[in-house]
Amino acid sequence: MAKAQAQYQCRECAITLPKWSGQCPDCKSWNSIEELPSLVAIGNTTSNWHGSSESAGVINLNAVPTSSTPRFSTEIDELDRVLGGGLVRGSVVLLGGDPGIGKSTILLQSLTRISVQQNALYVTGEESLQQVSMRAQRLNLPNQHLNLLSSTCVEEIIAQLGTSKPAVMVIDSIQTTFTNSLQSAPGSISQIRESTSILVRLAKQNNIAIFLVGHVTKEGQLAGPRVLEHMVDTVLYFEGDNSTRYRIIRAVKNRFGAVNELGIFAMTDEGLKQVSNPSAIFLSHHDQPVPGSVIMVSREGTRPMLVEIQALVTESHAGHPRRISVGLESNRLAMLLAILQRHGGIPLYDQDVFINAVGGVRIAETGADLAVILAILSSFRDRPVSNRILVLAKWVYPGRSGRYRTERDDSARPKSMGSKLQLSQNRICHTHNKLKLIPVNHLADTLDTL
Ligand code: TYD
Ligand code: MG
Repeated sequence: MAKAQAQYQCRECAITLPKWSGQCPDCKSWNSIEELPSLVAIGNTTSNWHGSSESAGVINLNAVPTSSTPRFSTEIDELDRVLGGGLVRGSVVLLGGDPGIGKSTILLQSLTRISVQQNALYVTGEESLQQVSMRAQRLNLPNQHLNLLSSTCVEEIIAQLGTSKPAVMVIDSIQTTFTNSLQSAPGSISQIRESTSILVRLAKQNNIAIFLVGHVTKEGQLAGPRVLEHMVDTVLYFEGDNSTRYRIIRAVKNRFGAVNELGIFAMTDEGLKQVSNPSAIFLSHHDQPVPGSVIMVSREGTRPMLVEIQALVTESHAGHPRRISVGLESNRLAMLLAILQRHGGIPLYDQDVFINAVGGVRIAETGADLAVILAILSSFRDRPVSNRILVLAKWVYPGRSGRYRTERDDSARPKSMGSKLQLSQNRICHTHNKLKLIPVNHLADTLDTL
């Protein structure tokens, strides 16, 4: 068959062109020309894997047949937790993360265990079959049942499915995968997009749960088109600090569960181990209270955790004071400093301020504001906050007037302390003997607490 003529299209103005160029001749934008999938080739690939295509008629919502057990366990509780209670059949999960963080390891650990019960297929495009097998042996994983395939071509992978009929499949990685329907190189935006869209259709039509491993760029974004995140059902990010062995999997998009849910692991000689008491790793256990250290109850997803916030405030000798934030948003730090100065009268304009969330955890919630303010004050005044004080902010958002506002219901936070208190305001909480609550409604109350 004669090779189909490639067509190109501009991402910005959608003009179609017969050949590629660096700049769009119409809208003049750079690097926006992409190859279009050839229709002939797509027709061929779809006919190969068209297993149980659904009819395209209108159907009543009630009449849609739903599977009785749509979820199954990944055999790793922390991974089930971020997925919202297990893996949904026919769903596509994108797992992104830095190189060497443990993406291949965790998926191999999960798949070998799943394969004891159901068919599972691990498609490796980056490592050789020997490497995968050696890792499974070294980690003592049950390796009798898992099927492996070394391939990077979507059509070849689909052709192999007839024999293995997996319930769950891993593609490691989506950046090395390509489809014959495009002529561009693997890893290019159009290849990643087209390969993903074929795999998404495959998952839906054949009820296969698919994990796609994705690389991240230096800026921390998933490599490939942003649209990739829209195409899949769930996007998980593997985060972690190279200086610690703890690794965190965070759900940033989930069509089947809560987002911002965290799964916490430790990388050990025997692969990734689940951390059963995550609060222990986010605290730095001082014997005596130290200035600038505050413990807060953070709520990520559905699990409240104790996290230590550390601040160092020191006189600046540069013309422009430094504000460095690790694990917390730096714009928010700048805003809190401005509020402290404007409404609290705390002169921080000539101070360097460093903020850190212990253990490499990244806190996105505004509930950290109260703890950050207290930690900064404690360091600035060189007065320790008792380690019996726990900040139980119910989501703090100091408005521009300096008054705190409530953002969302947060009844789970106090439960983590074995208490059934109903919090209606921000509280700073003494955890000595009996629980004593100090309500904090206004920035001035916070300043008085220390
Ligand atoms: P890997 O899963 O290959 O990372 P990714 O697929 O995300 O690139 O993990 C490799 C890293 O994990 C490597 O730096 C070594 C470390 N590691 C351990 O410390 N212990 C182990 O048991 C394994 C398998 C890996
Ligand atoms: Mg890998």
